[in-house]
Amino acid sequence: MTTTLITGGTVVSATGRSEADVLVDDERIVAVLEPGSQLLGSDLKSSVDTVIDATGKFVIPGGIDAHTHMEMPFGGTEASDTFETGTRAAAWGGTTSIIDFVVQRQGERVQDSLAEWHERAGGNCAVDYGFHQIIGGVDDDSLAAMRGLLDEGVSSFKLFMAYPGVFYSDDAQVLRAMQVSADTGLMTMMHAENGPAIDVLAEQLVAQGKTDPYYHGIARAWQMEEEATHRAIMLADVAGAPLYVVHVSAKQAVAQIATARDGGKNVFGETCPQYLYLSLEDQLGARSDEWGTFEGAKWVCSTPLRSHAEGHQDHMWQALRTNDLQMVSTDHCPFCMKDQKELGRGDFRAIPNGMGSIEHRMNLMYQGVVAGHLTLERWVELTSTTPARMFGLYGRKGVIQPGADADIVVYDPNGHTSIGIDATHHMNMDYSAWEGFEVDGHVDTVISRGRVIVDGGEYRGRPGDGRFVKRGLSQYLV
Ligand code: URP
Ligand code: ZN
Ligand code: ZN
Ligand code: ZN
Repeated sequence: MTTTLITGGTVVSATGRSEADVLVDDERIVAVLEPGSQLLGSDLKSSVDTVIDATGKFVIPGGIDAHTHMEMPFGGTEASDTFETGTRAAAWGGTTSIIDFVVQRQGERVQDSLAEWHERAGGNCAVDYGFHQIIGGVDDDSLAAMRGLLDEGVSSFKLFMAYPGVFYSDDAQVLRAMQVSADTGLMTMMHAENGPAIDVLAEQLVAQGKTDPYYHGIARAWQMEEEATHRAIMLADVAGAPLYVVHVSAKQAVAQIATARDGGKNVFGETCPQYLYLSLEDQLGARSDEWGTFEGAKWVCSTPLRSHAEGHQDHMWQALRTNDLQMVSTDHCPFCMKDQKELGRGDFRAIPNGMGSIEHRMNLMYQGVVAGHLTLERWVELTSTTPARMFGLYGRKGVIQPGADADIVVYDPNGHTSIGIDATHHMNMDYSAWEGFEVDGHVDTVISRGRVIVDGGEYRGRPGDGRFVKRGLSQYLV
């Protein structure tokens, strides 16, 4: 058993901040104390094993990234970060828990897919991890199997209204799965884009010779996201199911979520850093000496990056501030340019969809505080506390309080972080979607269940430090 005292810092939670010392015993937080407190008459600093000086810094609950795809088989290849490399990059960036997606396809047993993902992740993760279940083939077998997920600690599943022939569910399948969600309390997560209509538009663009990555963003028009978001909300309402819309990028989809929430529905929404910072024009439309107009492939993901001229990015910041959207996850699904994104040279439809950001989420979202979009407390809420509450981890994770797992980040607001592959990021990618970003703030120390795994510039963790965490039902449901 080791004891650690984090002293001199400002402890920030979703509801406030205070100057306090945090005492950790083994894997848990045991006390949050007045600075300089004594315990049983003795000075704490001299009686603990390790003292971490957090003077001038923020002490926050470790980040929770509730949307990642390590090793995901997708687009004719597999996401380039393994559980080992992706969770290590997460740790470097101040994220101490991830919730990754188990993939079940049509004809596969849900139980087998879950067992396979345990096999993939077990013994390899740097930080704690949970699973959501992708249901890529809704049928009687998978619907029955979904009823056993909660016992396995998996309290949410994802459906796709996009990607026909891959993970797509039609409205009948969506409704049936949502009825199981209503019965069991499992959270329905939805990829809300009208896949069949997008495929028609994409085919027509390619037939016109419009094959560059830019046209990925044109085919996946915001109307396709707004429409599917609306349809998902209505189907969930009919089923009586809670609904969490993933990777929201269109301001019109936000409006659908806001209207549903104002109408009292159990509807929630997540956006990702890429939809706050990057755009159709600047990234999907980029060209470079190395890649020509194929440069934009670096930012091909779905939902796509939206037009800056239409103001989606500013609207996402606003929605995070006003709670029209509740969370920020990364949708971390990296592919290298070489041999992976390259599969779609000459046809944007064949570019594997996804971006890598897991290492940068805490820093990128802190810029919302710097720019005055978010309070410090809201930053913690969006990146840690709400993810914990939304997906049944709160109490153990997402908060600094006695009894919670000692997942803690010491964040230096006066530090600086250079982002990119040139700055030697730790994600397994041959490029960075964030190359050249220079941001205020720095992740100094990362503690995972009481163990210091990132200490300044040094990594002290090991594969297998991270354990599977069984999740309960969402704490947002009454
Ligand atoms: O482009 C994306 N988002 N790739 C990952 C799979 C998904 O739809 O979330
Ligand atoms: Zn998706
Ligand atoms: Zn995703
Ligand atoms: Zn620093």
